[in-house]
Amino acid sequence: MSKRRAHIVGWGKYVPARVLSNADLERMVETEDEWIVTRTGIRERRLRTETDTTTSMAVNASRDALKVAGLEGKDIDLIIVANSSPDYLLPGPANFVQHELGASCPAFTLAGGCSGWVYSLVTANQFIETGAYRNVLVVGVEIISFAIDYTDRSTCILFGDAAAAVVLQPSTDGAGVLSFELGSDGGLAKNLWVPGGGTVNPVSQQVVDNREHYIRMNGQEVFKFAVRQLSSSLHNVSTQAGLSPSDLDLIIPHQANLRIIEAAAERLRLPLDKFYVNLHKYGNTSAASIPLALVEAIQDGRVKPHDRIGMVAFGSGLSWAGAVVKMGVNVPVANPEALAVGAAD
Ligand code: COA
Repeated sequence: MSKRRAHIVGWGKYVPARVLSNADLERMVETEDEWIVTRTGIRERRLRTETDTTTSMAVNASRDALKVAGLEGKDIDLIIVANSSPDYLLPGPANFVQHELGASCPAFTLAGGCSGWVYSLVTANQFIETGAYRNVLVVGVEIISFAIDYTDRSTCILFGDAAAAVVLQPSTDGAGVLSFELGSDGGLAKNLWVPGGGTVNPVSQQVVDNREHYIRMNGQEVFKFAVRQLSSSLHNVSTQAGLSPSDLDLIIPHQANLRIIEAAAERLRLPLDKFYVNLHKYGNTSAASIPLALVEAIQDGRVKPHDRIGMVAFGSGLSWAGAVVKMGVNVPVANPEALAVGAAD
């Protein structure tokens, strides 16, 4: 019998109805659709509506994931919510999500920026490998637009809001998390950060006037870091799983910028079609980015039973997180009815 691992048995997503297109941005800042598409590949992104909250978006995605898994809220043993845009400073959204789902299990929020969901997946895997928990819900959700300065053309074009979730269970047939790599280089932290609103520089009129409660980014430094880390992490997690990157059936990279994905593909000498891309529709949804792409890859029929999927995230920290996950038999051919759940936008 193979080692017990966490494998994916349910998946769901929620994207807000409001679309912010490149044409909309042309009316807000000095930019052009062509510049944005050429430099990033992004055509539109979603923004929360008046009724969307971080918790409501997470709950919507989670309900679909539980339905696919054939579970109810009361069956969940642990909830991890990857999120850096909470409804309130305290507590994080995980506790609200737990309550809304009718679960009575432990729940915590992991604030890891864009790497947060893969960090959460790897954390969940530890609890499943040890046998501590059986049904674990791992959510990635962001209303990152709340931290975006819509007068700063270098950041406002990049980001969007979304949520996605998976349900993990132990498998003993070889499916699940085969390998992972987590990393952090805090020396680079201030290349992507929010300088105001924390304990060093608490909210004040001055913080607001200086727009220090919004994300500040050194785009070129983050770009270089992202290309380096996407390619090296994919290489490392593949090797650890006894594979080469070209053996992976599909790669789900963090959906930050198509140019980053292209540069990493070139470094690894991999064809671009090995990489699943949906950033043209959503931009960078931070912690929701990889699970949202995974859910859409499944719904698009790009994921087959037993596929080995490489995932690599990178972002604030600066941090990175990669994993190779082997799918079980539940996607998508073996269970087309489950596949249809949550497929409609
Ligand atoms: N529209 C038009 N021009 C813009 C612009 C926009 N939205 N944003 C920046 N520019 C301008 C700059 O002001 C600069 O003008 P200048 O030469 O007159 O000073 C010029 O374009 C080039 O700027 P630069 O920052 O060198 O562009 P770039 O090619 O590095 O692209 C990013 C900028 C942000 C798209 C790119 O650096 C990037 O994607 N970095 C990674 C960001 C990321 O993924 N962050 C999240 C990680 S989780």
